[in-house]
Amino acid sequence: MNELKLHPYPKALSGEIEVPGDKSISHRAVIIGSLAYGKTKVSHFLDGEDCMRTVQAFKSMGVSIEKTESTLIIEGRGAAALEEPKEPVYFGNSGTTARLMIGLLAGLPFFTTVYGDPHLSNRPMDRVVNPLKQMEATIDGRRDGSYLPLAVKGKKLKGIHYTLPVKSAQVKSAVLLAGIHAEGETKVSELTATRNHTENMLKAFNADITIDGRHTTITNKQPLKATDIYVPGDISSAAFFLAAAAIVPGSSVRLKNVGLNQTRTGIIDVLKSMGATIEINNQQSISGELLGDLTVTHGAIHSTTIEGDIIPRLIDEIPVIALLATQADGTTIIRNAEELRVKETDRIAAVVDVLSTLGANLEATADGIIIYGKTALRGGNVSAYNDHRIAMMAVIASLVAREEVVLDDASSIAISYPTFFSDLRTIMN
Ligand code: S3P
Repeated sequence: MNELKLHPYPKALSGEIEVPGDKSISHRAVIIGSLAYGKTKVSHFLDGEDCMRTVQAFKSMGVSIEKTESTLIIEGRGAAALEEPKEPVYFGNSGTTARLMIGLLAGLPFFTTVYGDPHLSNRPMDRVVNPLKQMEATIDGRRDGSYLPLAVKGKKLKGIHYTLPVKSAQVKSAVLLAGIHAEGETKVSELTATRNHTENMLKAFNADITIDGRHTTITNKQPLKATDIYVPGDISSAAFFLAAAAIVPGSSVRLKNVGLNQTRTGIIDVLKSMGATIEINNQQSISGELLGDLTVTHGAIHSTTIEGDIIPRLIDEIPVIALLATQADGTTIIRNAEELRVKETDRIAAVVDVLSTLGANLEATADGIIIYGKTALRGGNVSAYNDHRIAMMAVIASLVAREEVVLDDASSIAISYPTFFSDLRTIMN
């Protein structure tokens, strides 16, 4: 246990931070770079525990991947050169590694057993196993392959047309990665847009992929060609400092080179709808992804309603948005976010528990949270639920709490943001 005592912080936050690389894009760079022919250099890679699970998975299949600080060099020799792992492959806490790798492994000509930590073992895998079985994959495990550990007997798959029943980029990506090695066309349709980093990166690697609105089609026709990737800063990590600057009186913080892909910027829309002052500068596009600098300045904020198509665009930011709402005048309603129940932990229950322990007035609903603001936060003993985003939300909450906040264990933060505390210190004056 790594208990942390967080003292009240009576001053303003100011300065500049460059947050580490985007977690979703970092995973995809490793996966697609390992399948391509040639050398892929990945700059500003997220050196967090989750992404390193993906690196380890490919190393265990014989891919040479070298890491120096935040740069990876992947020596791709194409999917045909991947070797059967000699031991079960461990995915740790990483849902993205699990879902995307299962999709890929289903179509490779060897046997793999995959498993995760106790949290990941409780998260649903049937959402990827079901479409893969429709593609004729052979996958088995607990409850008919619904949970890790899973045994994947890779084989030649058949393309399908699949409409996503859940708003999940991980499921979309699993089917598309399976489609790279399937016979015929694989088409994925989604009713609500989810993050499209897999599609963007496959395009950058020369895949035969066609995107027509919410329908994406891929075939096995084009070999993937190595290319260099720059990973923009993770907006899901930046979100904690955007929120901090919005609620700590007198603050103004600039976040540099943050990914601004439209499928991820729901937090910016929410901050604006709450009346926060947010500026976007220096926008540019690199490796098919938009990025830019964000500056947030403290001011009064008010409640908002968050529902419908915006939910996948901010799904990972909901814990910190709930914290923002405790400091906003009026009642904020978050609905259609039932996916939060099956994240690293049940994030609806965790957010309500942590913030109500700190004196906020909020309640859980089946698919969201209702927050009655504005409430002064006090101190207290809270649990991070072993969930990186709950832990970081609690740390940011402590900045505006009147008394000490004691967090049971902050170690999960290394999953997505190993330099979180040093970055936070740079804006504390
Ligand atoms: C991710 C997609 C989201 C998100 C997760 C990362 C990805 O999950 O919550 O942190 O990299 O594709 P779902 O697609 O399952 O909603």
